[in-house]
Amino acid sequence: MDPCDRAAVVELARSSRTDLVVIGPEAPLVVGVADALRHAGIAVFGPDAAAAQLEGSKGFTKDLCRANGIPTASYVRAERAADAHVALAQFDIPVVIKADGLAAGKGVTVAMTRAEAEQAIDAAGDGPLVIEEFLEGEEASLFALVDGETAVPLASAQDHKRVGEGDTGPNTGGMGAYAPAPVLTAELRQRAMDEIVLPTARALAAAGTPFTGVLYAGLMLTARGPELIEYNVRFGDPECEAIMPLIEGDFAELLHAVATGRLAEIDPPRLSGEHSMTVIVAARGYPGTPAAGGAIRAIESAEQVEGVTVFHAGTAEGESGLVAKGGRVLAVTAVADTFANARARAYRAVDQIDFDDGFHRRDIGWRELEREQA
Ligand code: AMP
Ligand code: GLY
Repeated sequence: MDPCDRAAVVELARSSRTDLVVIGPEAPLVVGVADALRHAGIAVFGPDAAAAQLEGSKGFTKDLCRANGIPTASYVRAERAADAHVALAQFDIPVVIKADGLAAGKGVTVAMTRAEAEQAIDAAGDGPLVIEEFLEGEEASLFALVDGETAVPLASAQDHKRVGEGDTGPNTGGMGAYAPAPVLTAELRQRAMDEIVLPTARALAAAGTPFTGVLYAGLMLTARGPELIEYNVRFGDPECEAIMPLIEGDFAELLHAVATGRLAEIDPPRLSGEHSMTVIVAARGYPGTPAAGGAIRAIESAEQVEGVTVFHAGTAEGESGLVAKGGRVLAVTAVADTFANARARAYRAVDQIDFDDGFHRRDIGWRELEREQA
């Protein structure tokens, strides 16, 4: 079934008498699968198409921030390349050039020179762009559950977007993550809720397009405080795999409460207080064309390491066992009492896995490691 086919999803939910639909990726949200389910009277965790614009259009989000005083990089929207070239003159270098629509994490250029910025504009294919001020600081992600005007923080995490060690090479969907992100202190988290997440929820509710689901705020912790880099309208991948093992209580009930507008009535979400780390094992070639069909063995040994779960992201059953199918193949998650222990367990587990056509980053969590050693 095509998960973006609204009628087919509604029909499946009806015929299987599904109580709750949780929409994972952004594409079905942006095309209105949640709208269709809600219209059919089926509880759904995930925003309608109008609120999913927070992820679907960077220009929409920037305008919403500007109209509501939400801290974010200053910006100009440009409809075509020619306008973008003109607008570029008013920005200092470095500068950030973004395609307006969904680009699977690949639509952003942080240009270190004016020539690079000009090139990024020309490479964007004359579609709408956002040009914005470069923000300095450390990144952290805040996940909040939102149901209309009610928003509660769930967790924080830090992702590793670049394919190579030392954060080098092209952007990917994410090569590893850890949770929580201690750099987002309780005080900074409160500011991000008060100054960014809550005003966003209120603005959408006031516009008649309330948000339902998880709002993932990509933040830059600047000298001025937390500023919004981008929103996602879903749990990130691999952030999701890092966060889930930390959540206590009945998670389905939590999602159902959000889906049915009862978030304000229930106990706030609770985390275990442990730390987790996820290392992505990808197929050679990712984020370009990944090698398909490579054999994967010994996942059972990896799962014998204490606190470890191996999530399958791109695997299939081949004739003689498990094979790779897709770019990001496995998400190896470990939980422990401290960040350092979670990290050690995650790599011990990864080292058990026999996957010749795969690769992973050895330095997931390097910022946190440096902080602990400092
Ligand atoms: P986005 O897809 O908007 O999250 O952008 C991808 C990555 O580009 C972010 O995770 C940041 O590392 C970087 N980035 C985006 N916008 C900015 C900005 N205004 N200043 C500095 N870095 C940025
Ligand atoms: N890991 C980043 C994302 O899912 O968007």
